[in-house]
Amino acid sequence: MIPDKVPEQDVILGSGDLKKDAHIPTFEKYKELYVNSVENPEEFWGTLAKDFFWKTKHTGQFFNYNFDVTKGEIFIKFMEGASTNICYNLLDRNVYEKNLADKIAFFWEGNEPGDDLTVTYKELLQRVCQFANVLKSQGVQKGDRVSIYMPMVVELVVAMLACVRIGAVHSIVFAGFSAESLCERILDSQCSLLITADGFYRGDKLINLKLLADEALQKCIDKGVPVKKCIMLKHLSKVPEETAGCNSPPPKRSCPDLQVPWNPDVDLCWHTLISGASDECEPEWCDSEDPLFILYTSGSTGKPKGVLHTVSGYMLYAATTFKLVFDYQPDDVYWCTADIGWITGHSYITYGPLANGATSVLFEGLPTYPDVSRMWEIVDKYSVTKFYTAPTAIRLLMKFGSDPVQKYNRKSLKVLGTVGEPINPEAWQWYYNVVGEKRCPIVDTFWQTETGGHVLTPLPAATPLKPGSATFPFFGVVPAILNESGEELTGPSEGYLVFKQPWPGVMRTVYGNHQRFETTYFKKFPGYYVTGDGCRRDEDGYYWITGRIDDMLNVSGHLLSTAEVESALVEHKAVAEAAVVGRPHPVKGESLYCFVTLNDGMTFNQKLESELKKKVRDKIGAIATPDFIQNAPGLPKTRSGKIMRRLLRKIACNEKDLGDVSTLADSSVIDQLYQNRCCSAV
Ligand code: WT7
Repeated sequence: MIPDKVPEQDVILGSGDLKKDAHIPTFEKYKELYVNSVENPEEFWGTLAKDFFWKTKHTGQFFNYNFDVTKGEIFIKFMEGASTNICYNLLDRNVYEKNLADKIAFFWEGNEPGDDLTVTYKELLQRVCQFANVLKSQGVQKGDRVSIYMPMVVELVVAMLACVRIGAVHSIVFAGFSAESLCERILDSQCSLLITADGFYRGDKLINLKLLADEALQKCIDKGVPVKKCIMLKHLSKVPEETAGCNSPPPKRSCPDLQVPWNPDVDLCWHTLISGASDECEPEWCDSEDPLFILYTSGSTGKPKGVLHTVSGYMLYAATTFKLVFDYQPDDVYWCTADIGWITGHSYITYGPLANGATSVLFEGLPTYPDVSRMWEIVDKYSVTKFYTAPTAIRLLMKFGSDPVQKYNRKSLKVLGTVGEPINPEAWQWYYNVVGEKRCPIVDTFWQTETGGHVLTPLPAATPLKPGSATFPFFGVVPAILNESGEELTGPSEGYLVFKQPWPGVMRTVYGNHQRFETTYFKKFPGYYVTGDGCRRDEDGYYWITGRIDDMLNVSGHLLSTAEVESALVEHKAVAEAAVVGRPHPVKGESLYCFVTLNDGMTFNQKLESELKKKVRDKIGAIATPDFIQNAPGLPKTRSGKIMRRLLRKIACNEKDLGDVSTLADSSVIDQLYQNRCCSAV
């Protein structure tokens, strides 16, 4: 299943420097451990579990599960009966046993350059305990759900870990979501308390978050399910006398007179509450399979799914993937640019890094504010060694060329990572050549909210890389590729990506709807977890994610991946970004309708259109020749940067009813896209 030998040609080898101290220094070592992880999960994960603190040992079977709907209910139980507390493992153990009390846990970098602060492991522990006591005093108990709607501030980490310390279940809602979305999530998970902030700046834009939170709370009241309390952090409007017991000063670009609505029956001030709270708090010991958090992810039906993760499996998986995939070393400064409101932020800003005693950058701002050099300025400022971002950010910055990158030296960088969508080889090459100066391996990590952590990924010193491939499975993960009839394909093949057995970090259920969990992931192909992604395995055994299976196109009986066509389009020097959808065609079934965003200074004309069609034909074949190419100065994206192809499909067909557009980051692009439609396609 993992090839005996990896090719020596057409691959990019990990840097020699990394190999010296790497946890997994060679492909042979990876293979040896991989086989053991799959054949003897108890031995593999049991050894790793020894690095953590357990209040009591597991009692039941080490890893007990049913992954086959035809054999009964789906369940996954890992180290059941063992008890621990993740907050204790992330903080107390690092402070008291690992001598990391004064090590910096986070360099906080605010929206404004020069606005920063640091927090050590010891300080973080004290602040978490203080806030845990606040939650307890508000009546929050083990198992209760707490909704968190906050910007990227240290207090967001404090709030989430305070929940964990007392065994409460956090449900973080990304601060870019609307009041409607927040209300829907609060109601679905029956949260008793909301934690929010007054407001924040995103670049130049002031967001009055409390206003949105209140709107959501009003909607909850209208639906007859009021939330009891709302704790508000003063991030922008903090005034000195109220900062007692609070060691974050107001940010540089503060807004002391920000007008936030205040309801004394419900609202509580974060700072007032903590000023009287003790900074010691006994952790609540939780069973391995107790719920840890809920995180909502979109579903094909439109109603978001509350993905539920549990304590021990998630902790071990986030910690181990972080350590091995970024080859974490004690002197690293790690930076993941994701928002904590997404799974990437949960696993690779909070849980994974803190479990390893790492120092991370926590960034509140944007890659383009105040200018497009901001990321590289921060890399140099903190001497970042491991950097993790999304292909969409790379493509965005790529449009501005290499000068903004080369203004900074980036000498500290050792490993670069990407996540979120397939990375086209051109963006990969730019990231590798320009950002990393050919020195830093790129870990293209494939995973999902549901998988808890990386499932297909290179290991930076061990895996020879192919630009655009997520390469091979992580330990304990067994992928397969199925055809439409559910048959496992062997050798080079393309089809549905599935997993054959659980790994510790896989989700346990959809909160409040186990049936939906079974239907979404296990019904289509009994015996397998279905990712919903298409995947190709090449002649060397490398896995290439081709995009969501619902983004697959069938042109004249040929399966095509939108990602593949997009990648061809962006190879053209005029194109910055492309999104391809299928448009019904009377003869071919579907035809390709391509939206392209051009690089600065490029103009869209017929000549370019023909060149692009040729480019795709030359790269993939005549069947992939696009029927339509449309100039798209902006593409409809979710706030996490994913292109909403569902909307593009409607625009391509000139359908005016777009359905739910609440997750759209910038709705102004839609009108423009209708105006620019290819006339011949009307
Ligand atoms: C979907 C999951 C995992 C954190 C961020 C997104 C796509 C994710 C890759 C990658 C190709 C990727 C898949 C997946 N995806 N990483 N490296 N290569 N595709 O989490 O919102 O749950 O989305 O993102 O389509 O199914 P998510």
